[in-house]
Amino acid sequence: MRFWLLGALAPLTAAYVVNNGTTCTLYPEALNHHGEAVDDAPSIHQAFDLCGINGTVIFSDNTFNINSVLNTTNLLNCDVSLRGELRFSDDIPYWLSHSYNVVLQNQSTAWLFGGTNVTLRGEGGWYNGQGQAWYTENENNSNQPGRPISITFYNSTNMLIDNLRIIQPQFWATFVSYSQNVSITNLFVNATSDNEWGTVNTDGYDSWNSDNLLVENAVITNGDDCVAAKGNTTNLHVKNATCHQSNGMTIGSVGQYPTMPDYVINVTFEDVKCLNCGDGAYIKTWQGVDDDSSSNGDAGGGGRGLIKNITYKNFEMVNVGLPIQITQCIYTESENQCNTSKMAIEDVTWENIHGTSTYNIAASLYCSAVHPCPNVTFKNVDLKTVNSTLGLPMWNTTIQHEVYQCANLIGEKDSGIPCNRVAPDNYSQGVGGNVQ
Ligand SMILES: *[C@@H]1O[C@H](CO)[C@@H](O)[C@H](O)[C@H]1NC(C)=O
Ligand SMILES: *[C@@H]1O[C@H](CO)[C@@H](O)[C@H](O)[C@H]1NC(C)=O
Ligand SMILES: *[C@@H]1O[C@H](CO)[C@@H](O)[C@H](O)[C@H]1NC(C)=O
Ligand SMILES: *[C@@H]1O[C@H](CO)[C@@H](O)[C@H](O)[C@H]1NC(C)=O
Ligand SMILES: *[C@@H]1O[C@H](CO)[C@@H](O)[C@H](O)[C@H]1NC(C)=O
Ligand SMILES: *[C@@H]1O[C@H](CO)[C@@H](O)[C@H](O)[C@H]1NC(C)=O
Ligand SMILES: *[C@@H]1O[C@H](CO)[C@@H](O)[C@H](O)[C@H]1NC(C)=O
Ligand SMILES: *[C@@H]1O[C@H](CO)[C@@H](O)[C@H](O)[C@H]1NC(C)=O
Ligand SMILES: *[C@@H]1O[C@H](CO)[C@@H](O)[C@H](O)[C@H]1NC(C)=O
Ligand SMILES: *[C@@H]1O[C@H](CO)[C@@H](O)[C@H](O)[C@H]1NC(C)=O
Ligand SMILES: *[C@@H]1O[C@H](CO)[C@@H](O)[C@H](O)[C@H]1NC(C)=O
Ligand SMILES: *[C@@H]1O[C@H](CO)[C@@H](O)[C@H](O)[C@H]1NC(C)=O
Repeated sequence: MRFWLLGALAPLTAAYVVNNGTTCTLYPEALNHHGEAVDDAPSIHQAFDLCGINGTVIFSDNTFNINSVLNTTNLLNCDVSLRGELRFSDDIPYWLSHSYNVVLQNQSTAWLFGGTNVTLRGEGGWYNGQGQAWYTENENNSNQPGRPISITFYNSTNMLIDNLRIIQPQFWATFVSYSQNVSITNLFVNATSDNEWGTVNTDGYDSWNSDNLLVENAVITNGDDCVAAKGNTTNLHVKNATCHQSNGMTIGSVGQYPTMPDYVINVTFEDVKCLNCGDGAYIKTWQGVDDDSSSNGDAGGGGRGLIKNITYKNFEMVNVGLPIQITQCIYTESENQCNTSKMAIEDVTWENIHGTSTYNIAASLYCSAVHPCPNVTFKNVDLKTVNSTLGLPMWNTTIQHEVYQCANLIGEKDSGIPCNRVAPDNYSQGVGGNVQ
């Protein structure tokens, strides 16, 4: 029936899409060109044109060369199997000028993927972003317009991404945007640099303007947020994730644009291991005034909105730079700017958080004076410094206990947070040493 319909309309097509009824199987052009890295993007588009509605697209067990942008959107009832390697070219000038804009922070992507009732399953295959070229070119700088997000799940409803492996992502590995009911299970991301330049901005997963999301069974090695819920992420559930290096589980950053309020509501992160991360479980907002000094994804600040009903539960922290944090001035260290943020934060719980911090600050909770935070609570939070577990003192300090620094928490004394220091008002992301 379906087989007959599409087969009749579109018989065997040109090189390297083998179309059998509603199934399109892709083979790389290189097989026809003595191994030359001929661009497979045209065949891929052809396969999705033929089989993207009520069909199946199979990337066979071969190496595909992706030398140009992919736009496989508006799929419907489509199942995609990835059995080979998708090797994205490292032609930096090409991508800088051709990646598709994704609106947020003027960022862009190498692959726009989307539709309704869609599955994308890794069946032994993987995505190779050849990110080393980007890590080297970027030289630890911040967001760079045109540096592409590996894959963006866009304008999608009812989507399952299972067993996706992304190695050496160019920038953020995955981004869910303007979508709902998107589940990503068994995600594996590994961004590792082999030279002196780091893997800055290689977030594992980011969501924006999306609702009802799941991330389950993820293993992410990277140089930025492991999972980040950005503006207008609602009902996100992250369960069973391991983050290596990384900046842990994040809300934010939000509050960048005065004209676009950010709402992040109903988010649970649970069963998370954070190994040698810079941050662990944290919330980051921009300050309340526009500050041009930052170049992180454009300058910004002054945005309003609400972060509400956030739970961090069952975390094992191993040597984490700053395990727990709220900062309301993530990209500025100017004095007092933390007090200006217009982002309201309420109902945040850290529960069953165990393990070690690298330095003597276990938590830094700074809420904006404009919006002190109600109902921020700790339940069963037990963090030790790495050195204290070894019976060693903290270097260059007389403080030997863990520091919990707080500011502008409403109901602090009933919060369960053992606040023993006032959080300073110029404290941005991460820490690089002990406090006195
Ligand atoms: C075409 O698909 C049908 C049904 O899935 C399968 O039985 C058949 O072997 C396929 N033929 C080729 C040439 O792949
Ligand atoms: C896709 O399948 C649905 C339901 O099975 C059917 O209504 C629709 O006409 C099909 N579309 C195409 C383009 O085959
Ligand atoms: C992607 O392809 C769709 C058609 O499926 C088109 O409507 C859309 O404009 C394309 N997007 C971009 C950014 O080119
Ligand atoms: C998506 O799948 C659901 C459940 O199978 C079905 O009810 C719905 O009609 C599908 N949507 C479209 C647009 O085909
Ligand atoms: C978004 O997807 C819907 C189908 O769910 C489609 O009608 C619409 O054209 C898509 N919008 C864009 C901008 O691609
Ligand atoms: C990530 O890749 C690096 C370099 O190839 C490798 O040493 C490391 O073991 C990988 N990490 C994981 C978790 O597979
Ligand atoms: C957690 O995720 C890892 C990595 O995908 C997997 O190996 C493990 O079985 C999962 N644990 C549970 C309890 O599902
Ligand atoms: C978030 O959604 C609201 C509407 O609910 C909209 O006004 C706002 O612009 C959106 N923010 C972003 C960052 O897209
Ligand atoms: C948050 O979850 C509650 C309880 O499920 C629900 O009633 C509410 O609509 C959700 N809020 C948003 C913004 O989705
Ligand atoms: C808070 O969010 C969780 C999901 O993360 C949801 O189960 C719960 O119902 C929400 N609580 C309220 C009061 O909305
Ligand atoms: C405090 O936050 C928790 C978790 O988000 C929520 O379940 C509870 O209802 C909130 N309590 C009050 C008094 O708002
Ligand atoms: C831990 O102790 C060692 C040995 O005294 C010292 O070199 C190191 O700086 C300490 N680490 C921290 C974070 O204080």
